[in-house]
Amino acid sequence: MQSAPEFPIYAPDLTDPYNARRLSCAEALYGVLGVERDNKLGRMMQFARNFDFYGAPVGLIVALDRRLERGQWADVGIYLAHLLLLAQERGLATCAQAAWAAMNQTVRAFLDMPEPYLLYCGVPLGYARSRSAHQYVADGAGALDRERRNARVCRS
Ligand SMILES: Cc1cc2nc3c(=O)[nH]c(=O)nc-3n(C[C@H](O)[C@H](O)[C@H](O)COP(=O)(O)O)c2cc1C
Repeated sequence: MQSAPEFPIYAPDLTDPYNARRLSCAEALYGVLGVERDNKLGRMMQFARNFDFYGAPVGLIVALDRRLERGQWADVGIYLAHLLLLAQERGLATCAQAAWAAMNQTVRAFLDMPEPYLLYCGVPLGYARSRSAHQYVADGAGALDRERRNARVCRS
């Protein structure tokens, strides 16, 4: 069951360029998956696939000790990046999934996860099947360029 994540995944008042990049990436991904922006059910169904680890045979849960400070959260990021790259090197596909943070209560109960641990994300591990998602290219920089262009248009 969905519950509030134990930490904010995004700032509630996320400003540009971050918000623009986030929207642009989501638009690009759902675009290649053929899910239109106004197709609410389609978007929900695609989002729900997170909780099946996108059909991967292995699902990892990454957790960290909540007594560690923000400085050490970077270490988790480094660990995660290496994990994803090592998997890729061995021909395995992965996908960091912050969506799992909203399932922390269910996962905690299921895994009997000790209290100090905080669910950071999930990671499916398997062989890539769908080709469509692979056409997706994260376009954060593109969003930034567009924003700069718009800012110039607004100023002139
Ligand atoms: C910290 C983090 C959390 C993410 N959370 C999710 C998520 O919950 N669900 C999802 O489908 N993609 C999520 N993504 C995006 C994918 O993991 C992946 O980065 C994106 O689809 C781009 O693929 P690529 O990194 O292979 O280019 C997240 C990425 C990061 C870095």
